[in-house]
Amino acid sequence: MNPPILEVSGLTVDFRTDDGTVQAVRGVDFAVSAGEVLAIVGESGSGKSVTAMSILKLLPPSATVGGAVRWHGEDLLAASDERMRKVRGAEIAMIFQDPLTALNPVYRVGHQIVEAIQVHEKLSKKAARVRAIEMLDLVGIPQANKRVDQYTHEFSGGMRQRAMIAMALSCNPKLIIADEPTTALDVTVQAQVLEVLADLAHRLSVAVVLITHDLGVVAGMADHISVMYAGRVVEAGGVDATFDSTSHPYTAGLLASLPRLHGDIDQPLVPIGGQPPSMLHPPAGCSFHPRCLFAKEEAGCMTVMPEMTRQPGGQLSACHRAGELLAAGNLVRRVEVES
Ligand SMILES: Nc1ncnc2c1ncn2[C@@H]1O[C@H](COP(=O)(O)OP(=O)(O)OP(=O)(O)O)[C@@H](O)[C@H]1O
Ligand SMILES: [Mg+2]
Repeated sequence: MNPPILEVSGLTVDFRTDDGTVQAVRGVDFAVSAGEVLAIVGESGSGKSVTAMSILKLLPPSATVGGAVRWHGEDLLAASDERMRKVRGAEIAMIFQDPLTALNPVYRVGHQIVEAIQVHEKLSKKAARVRAIEMLDLVGIPQANKRVDQYTHEFSGGMRQRAMIAMALSCNPKLIIADEPTTALDVTVQAQVLEVLADLAHRLSVAVVLITHDLGVVAGMADHISVMYAGRVVEAGGVDATFDSTSHPYTAGLLASLPRLHGDIDQPLVPIGGQPPSMLHPPAGCSFHPRCLFAKEEAGCMTVMPEMTRQPGGQLSACHRAGELLAAGNLVRRVEVES
């Protein structure tokens, strides 16, 4: 495997609020290599966006960030504002959920890509326009040489999102962080756009961190996955290992709520019962224990925060009972039956 270009270790983010300290991220580790797609998955509020924003230092002043973010070995948390402006866009690009907030309706789509290119590179308008057309073509926008002169409202939702990817790619970044880039789109278009992103990552050797709350979109597109719960990574590893030999009850719960992933369409959805905890007062022990079907006093689930341990399938799991649960058979099935 290639050495990682981005390494996040022991990342913590606290927000000072009137109600107290929100512990949004509580010790997150992950790494991503060139040409690799890493999916970060978790329910709303699990700390995915805050993690992404802390990499690019886009958090408000109320945030205190700890741990390390190493970009090609360089500690970004210690980098100057000037250095970060260079990193953003030219080295690490970010794609957000809603393309309308990032694409300006007043200007032609091509003009915006040209501007983005010219901020980071000394290219003539003409050369930048040629690059913009190439990029639109690359992300699968038909008749890119005509589309380049259209406005955002002339693009469909899927095409806008593709244009966003084109804009992100046009500065030749080495990493793209895509935060729920397709949630606003219907399922088929979502799959198409994500396929474009994964394909480009592999072909152009760009690394992608894809943030999503939908495990369904991860299958077949990501290489690695980190599942987040209450500000921590609870299971991480290759996508196949994580799907085939799921070792954390939370991951199993997410998978059990996706019947289309494992055949039987008629089977009812099994949502995970209960709510994620407040990050003002996260539960003691394993944060998932109040919702976990397998939490046991004797295993330490209620009192001891579980460390990540390597499982026979190769993935890491932060569950006191992972070994035992894995040995007992398919955990996703068991969650479906016992919910
Ligand atoms: N500026 C802020 N001040 C205080 N708390 C914040 C701030 N930004 C985020 N949080 C809190 O941090 C936690 C993590 O939020 P985050 O936006 O990372 O969640 P997420 O996993 O991206 O969720 P979603 O899927 O809904 O986007 C939440 O409890 C959120 O309320
Ligand atoms: Mg988010």
